[in-house]
Parts: sequence; structure tokens; C-alpha cells
Amino acid sequence: MLQRENNVSDVLRKAIFPAAGLGTRFLPATKASPKEMLPIVDKPMIQYGVEEAISCGLKEIVIITGKHKRSIEDHFDYAFELEDKLRKSGKKKLIEEINRLNKIKIGYIRQGYALGLGHAISCARPFVNDEPFAVILSDDVIDTNETLLKDMVALYKKLKSPILALEKVPVSEVHRYGVIGGTKEGDGVYRIDTLVEKPDRESAPSDLAIIGRYILTPDIFEILSKSKPGKGGEIQLTDAIAKLLKKRPVYGYLFKGKRFDAGDKFGYLKATVHFALKNPELSAQFRSHILEVARKLKR
Ligand code: G1P
Repeated sequence: MLQRENNVSDVLRKAIFPAAGLGTRFLPATKASPKEMLPIVDKPMIQYGVEEAISCGLKEIVIITGKHKRSIEDHFDYAFELEDKLRKSGKKKLIEEINRLNKIKIGYIRQGYALGLGHAISCARPFVNDEPFAVILSDDVIDTNETLLKDMVALYKKLKSPILALEKVPVSEVHRYGVIGGTKEGDGVYRIDTLVEKPDRESAPSDLAIIGRYILTPDIFEILSKSKPGKGGEIQLTDAIAKLLKKRPVYGYLFKGKRFDAGDKFGYLKATVHFALKNPELSAQFRSHILEVARKLKR
């Protein structure tokens, strides 16, 4: 594991959370409510990413929202009436739990049209100004015990270059991801030389897929401002990073821990089971329920 600094905020302070997508893989649940607000046990999906950002010492977040996303803003806002009620009924722990998120400043930018991930990131340009920044895709849910983003920050400190989180995926799944080609330079570190958005298995440069954590530098914005639609007719972040590669080194960092693609129904269920089994109030009864279900299925 990489040597980590205690305080990362001297190198990285800001994160962008794109959340304007239409969530079509979860219809009809996402017809009028955001995918990012689907609960995994007792927290909306996006909160896992926000807690990860807080645990890395990040100071500011901008969430890129769109239509039907107002509940995200309400969720991260103060809830005076609710707090008052909880206070009167002596539920101090719940108030603390709700207020834990106030450690980070959260702003919102609306993306009028869902033109793709690259376009969503470009909407955050006025928020980022001239600093490096993280991108957190909240449907890639990672347990806060994992240190992926912290490790990436430590690597950024050393390399001063953009870093993308990578995961080895089965070749049958490469078409769901941005895929890199590159040379291994150290423990889990790759110098990237090719990037392809959602290739078919024949043209994939490797089985190393980009997962939803990036550290990027502000020079990506100039490239994004000139980007044309790519795969799926969308302005792709992967294509912009492929252009950036011609100007400066870009690295990948291989994640070996647990990630859940909670934007997908099966991944969402796996995340729910994982976090329910970790939840002290639910763990014991949920475990025995699962074992019981498994026993019945075997019969
Ligand atoms: C996006 C990126 C893709 C990346 C993936 C990780 O795709 O475009 O390169 O591999 O996130 O989750 P999406 O899942 O939004 O289609």
C-alpha cells in the first residue's frame, strides 16, 4: 500500500459528483426520483461517496444535477424541523448522524442537458478554477474502510499527473467500461498509453477498466470544451483524457478492494447485502435470514 499523508487537503480539496444522468437502468424507480437517492440499507447511494470524500479530507464538493434531482439538495441541507423533533424525543445519536455530513461544503450546478460524463465535468469548470480535483461517480460504491481515493491522492502527490482508478474485469464485461492500455510501472501503478470508451472484447486494449474515481488536472477543461460526442452520442470523459495523454503522462492505479456497481440492479443488490451484513443493528438477523433462504433454495 502507498504511503499516505495525514492531511490530503493541501494537494486536493475539491470533488465533482456527476449526478444528472437519467438512471434508465433503474426505471421505473427513477422516473421521478434520482438514482443517486436510492437507499443502500439506510443511506442514499450518493452519501457513501460523500462520506468517502470527507474521510479523505476533501473540503468542497460540487454535485452536477439535472431535472428531478431536487431531493439530493434537500438531503444534504439542514433539516431544522426534523432535528427539532429528534431533539424533543431525545434522539441525539440520530441528530449527530444527520449532521456528520456538514463537515464538507456542498454546492450544486445544473446540467441542462444530459450530454454525457465529459459534459457534466465541464459544467464544473467555474467551481474548480485552477486546482486538481477528484471525480467521484456515486454509483460505484466503495466501502469507507477501503483507502482507494486516499492512495490515489498520495500517488498524485508524487507524480503530479492525472490518475484513474482501475479494476481488472472479466473480458465479457469490458464493453461496460472505459478500458486502458499501458505499462506497469510499480505496485498497481500503470502509465497509460491508450484509452477506449466501452470497447467490444475484440478491440479492448486490456482487461483494466476505469472505475468511478479519478484525480484530474484543470487542463482537461480546455480539451472538454472542444470535445465532440463519442460513444453513444455523448461527450465522453474517456475521450478527453485520451487527448490529454498526448500532452502529459496519465496514470492508472489498480484497485484490489471491493467495489459495487450500484447503478446496475444486481450490483445494487450485492451492495445492499454487503452493507446490511455490516450494519450492527441488522447483521445477525439478516445473516440468519440469508442462510435460511439459501437452505430453502437448495431443497
Ligand atoms: C462511466 C465512464 C466509463 C467508466 C465508468 C465507471 O461510464 O464513461 O469510462 O468505466 O463510468 O463506472 P458509465 O457507467 O457512466 O456508462
